[in-house]
Formats: sequence, structure tokens, C-alpha cells
Amino acid sequence: MPLSARIESAISQAIGMGQGGVAPPKLSKALNYAVTPGGARIRPTILMSVALACGDDRPELTNAAASALELIHCASLVHDDMPCFDDADIRRGKPTVHREWDEPIALLTGDSLIVLAFEVLAKAAGSDPMRAVQLIRTLAHRTGMPNGICAGQGWESEAEVDLRAYHRAKTGALFIAATQMGAIAAGQDPDQWEELGARIGEAFQVADDLRDALYDAETLGKPAGQDDLHDRPNAVSAYGVQGAVRHLKDILGGAIASIPSCPGEAALAQMVRAQSERLTPVAPAVNRA
Ligand code: IPE
Ligand code: IPE
Ligand code: MG
Ligand code: MG
Repeated sequence: MPLSARIESAISQAIGMGQGGVAPPKLSKALNYAVTPGGARIRPTILMSVALACGDDRPELTNAAASALELIHCASLVHDDMPCFDDADIRRGKPTVHREWDEPIALLTGDSLIVLAFEVLAKAAGSDPMRAVQLIRTLAHRTGMPNGICAGQGWESEAEVDLRAYHRAKTGALFIAATQMGAIAAGQDPDQWEELGARIGEAFQVADDLRDALYDAETLGKPAGQDDLHDRPNAVSAYGVQGAVRHLKDILGGAIASIPSCPGEAALAQMVRAQSERLTPVAPAVNRA
């Protein structure tokens, strides 16, 4: 089965868990709306690629981990788009959840997806309780305070921002979760996988800053020019467009060099290269700027 089909199947199984029984119809529909059709699915792709590179000997745990991570990511986007954060009208080319329904539904959608993510992992524990506990702990660590995406969003309420800590928590955390959870699902030590996740996360943030500055809302499927508008510190204002592209390439070179030795090392390096090509803004946009 191709990786993308495996990811979609795991996600749809997870969403199904949140929709059973006599559930409120709007919220039930909103859970699926927030998660499908997906965006790039980059985090579960990385997670599964790492698990495969490490042998993937408990595929059901890998599937649970990949879907749980993507649910957390989608939840963070639903909350991030709400009026109390970025007040965005579109996400992935369609109205944001609070626009399609209302704020209570958006708040509850994010909450439900976060809880569902941990339920999915707990449910998969039967095949290897020790690995499941490690997965739950790692995902919690990278979602909440003080190192997770909650911390990342929390920095936006501060007058003085530690840029490195902000980016590492807001964006890097779920990439570190991706590499570490892939390793854990396949029974490997997560510590040696932190650096790869952190470097991919850093590269992703630079690429996201470039896309925000260079592309329009139609191409992005979400509002463009947000960093400038909200006066957020970003890689384009710090290094300029060409400088940010060079910085992105440097970080990705470091990411590939940091891949721990494992049976699928070469394939994993290929995956990082493929994702980086997809992430880097195309030449005409870069040259125009
Ligand atoms: C957007 O993430 C949020 C950031 C951390 C910048 P993605 O660009 O991965 O969003 P989707 O899932 O592909 O829509
Ligand atoms: C979203 O960050 C990151 C999280 C929700 C943790 P941004 O606000 O920078 O990303 P977009 O531009 O809305 O995707
Ligand atoms: Mg935001
Ligand atoms: Mg936003």
C-alpha cells in the first residue's frame, strides 16, 4: 500500500472512533471537515518513513501514531484560525471551521481531536504497552507546555519573544514528535531522532515564511502575507528572500547528515530530499522578489 493510502486509512479509522453512537451531528461532521481532505500530511509521512526505515515491526502502532499526530496538527490549525488567534477565513482552500459553523463548534472540534489523538494511541496499546506509553508521553510533551505547540502559540501573547524557542515550539515540536514517534513505534531509542526532527522543523518554518511572503492566498489555500501583517518575526525579514532560500538549503543539508544509521537510511534521505523540493518555493516566485 502506498504511504499516502496508509496514512488516509489510519486517519479515517481514527475519525470514525470519534463519530460513533448518538453524537451531536454538527460536531461530528466538523471533526471530519477539519481533517479531510488533508494538506500535505508531512508529519505522518515523516513518522511513517522513520518507522519504515527502522523496520516497522508493529505496523498497527505506526498507523495509530501517524493518525494521532495528524489529529493534533489539524486541531492546532482549527484553534489557530479562530478569532482569538489569527482570525482566518480559509484553510486548505475552504472556509475555516468557525466560518463554516461557529466558534463553539471550532473550539470543541479542536478539543475533541486532541482528546481523540490520545484515545487512538491508548487503544493501540494492546500490541505493545511500553511503546504505546512512550508514544503518548512523547506526543503530550510536544503538544502542551512547556515545549509543545501550546507553548509556541503562547509566545504570541508575550511582548518579548525568544524567536528560537517560539519556532522550535510552534513548528519544530510536531516534527520532533514525528521522527521520535516513528522510531518509538518501531522499537528504537527516540533520543537519537530528535535532531533530525528539529532540523526538518526549522527548515519547514523557513519554507513556510517564504511561501507566506511570496505566494497569494489562492495558491496557499490560506491567507498570505500574515507574517508582515501581524509583524511576526520571520526568516524573510531577517535574511531577505535569497538569503532565506540559502538558509533553507543549509538546514536541509544538515538534516540529511543527521539521519541516524538505520537499515532504511538511504530511503529516508531520499524522503527528506523529496519533501524539501516540495517545500521550497519555485524559482519564478523567488526570482520575482
Ligand atoms: C501549517 O502546517 C502550520 C504551520 C506549522 C506553519 P502545514 O503547512 O503542514 O499544513 P497542512 O497540513 O499541509 O495544511
Ligand atoms: C500555526 O502557525 C501553528 C500552529 C497552529 C501550532 P501559523 O499561524 O504561523 O500558521 P498558518 O499560516 O496559520 O498555517
Ligand atoms: Mg498562528
Ligand atoms: Mg495562522
